[in-house]
Amino acid sequence: MNAILKPFMPIVVAGALLAQAPPQTPASLSASTLDFAFFRDRVQPVFLQKRPGHARCLVCHENGTPRLEELSPGATTWNEEQSRKNFEAWQRVVAPGDPMASRLLMHPLAPQAGGDPFHAGGKHWTSQSDPEWQTLAAWVRTGSAQTNSASTLNFEFYRTRVEPIFLKIRQPNEGSGNACFTCHTKIASRLRLQPLGAGATAWSEAQSRSNFEVVSRLVTPGDPATSRLLLHPLSPEAGGDPAHTGGKFWTSNDNPEWQTLAAWVRTGKATGAAVAPSVTLDFAYFRDRVQPIFLQKRLGHARCVVCHENGTPRLEELSPGATTWNEEQSRKNFEAWQRVVAPGDPMASRLLMHPLAPQAGGDPFHAGGKHWTSQQDPEWQILSNWVRGQK
Ligand code: HEC
Ligand code: HEC
Ligand code: HEC
Repeated sequence: MNAILKPFMPIVVAGALLAQAPPQTPASLSASTLDFAFFRDRVQPVFLQKRPGHARCLVCHENGTPRLEELSPGATTWNEEQSRKNFEAWQRVVAPGDPMASRLLMHPLAPQAGGDPFHAGGKHWTSQSDPEWQTLAAWVRTGSAQTNSASTLNFEFYRTRVEPIFLKIRQPNEGSGNACFTCHTKIASRLRLQPLGAGATAWSEAQSRSNFEVVSRLVTPGDPATSRLLLHPLSPEAGGDPAHTGGKFWTSNDNPEWQTLAAWVRTGKATGAAVAPSVTLDFAYFRDRVQPIFLQKRLGHARCVVCHENGTPRLEELSPGATTWNEEQSRKNFEAWQRVVAPGDPMASRLLMHPLAPQAGGDPFHAGGKHWTSQQDPEWQILSNWVRGQK
């Protein structure tokens, strides 16, 4: 594990733990961190709102789980006490800090937009850009405040000076010639930016806020030199990471864009906070449960090993007559495949997103085909468990 990754691991870990078993999550785990006033004033109106072709959430959930309190006769919204009860009940479908792991957001969202496959109450939103969806996401994010480095970084600076860098149309000789947003609104990585609205040339304020959260986790406040955002697109000769699939956009620290990003990172105070235990990927689980997936034949597809014996990430060639890898080969596979994994965060791991159908939330394209059509697929679940640190 790269030392640079450590500062934002704690957030990822918290999200992943809660995501594993949301229905059983005790309210006490989340109760203290989510914002009640935000829920009462901004989230509850969503439950009361009528959307064409759908019953209001309230109509069904007055009698279902999670439960909404019955409105008092003549009332058009809930009183304080009822709101508190709603607040308790609905926290159980939320992973504080992590909208994508929260059933509140995924259940009524269309699968094409990354939502769950099915909700008996219908799909109320067709895009994550929907303002209602954004409101719910903003509430869920109030729950990450205590671990989030974002609080010390300057949002206005980010919105007015950093985001234009992501949006800038590039010359063919700059990096890969593509704008950052072209790839980073689509591919699975930790830099997952919001999709731009149709015809839009910039993000809305709500979208910028979600981007801000995501981008903040890729920097060490106060320290540009250890910030992944600044190292990944920087040439190795200038101290950057060895490789970035999107290309090297900056050849020196004097580059004005690099300087702008550095100035933003310096708006944050170095916390020097102790690094919480991060998710560690387990070798034995990889060897015994993940590797068989690479060898498995799926209808209409070549086996992973057929192509990846010669491609990146690489799988070792099987020894003559062998049906699986020996210990040494398995270790090499383990090293190579960690590079397409964000420990603790399946949704940011190309191992999971690349071979997953886009309708199920996967990347748009994988030259090797789409091997899974749902996140419920048992193989996908095994990979996901490995990424979450299962032993
Ligand atoms: C037509 C009735 C109906 C409407 C309208 C409806 N729901 Fe549901 N909802 C259900 C039923 C039934 C279930 C349980 C079965 C399922 O998961 O699909 C459910 C399940 C859920 C769950 C998952 C609960 C769990 O414990 O996993 C969430 C979250 C949810 N609904 C949120 C909403 C939201 C938010 C709205 C409004 C935008 C809404 N629902 C509108 C009927 C409805
Ligand atoms: C042609 C597509 C493409 C473009 C354009 C692109 N990237 Fe990337 N970027 C990727 C891919 C794929 C990855 C994940 C693999 C890797 O790390 O190389 C990635 C990874 C990253 C990461 C690390 C994310 C993580 O999960 O740790 C950062 C930071 C990043 N890119 C920043 C940028 C910035 C800033 C720009 C614009 C100046 C940019 N990228 C342009 C494709 C692209
Ligand atoms: C028919 C050949 C083929 C098969 C079969 C195949 N792949 Fe791939 N895979 C590729 C090629 C070519 C690329 C690089 C181009 C791309 O990203 O689509 C790739 C890219 C990837 C990447 C992204 C690598 C990176 O650095 O960004 C991952 C992860 C991946 N494959 C996983 C798998 C898994 C897991 C399987 C089996 C379930 C599989 N592939 C089966 C050909 C294949």
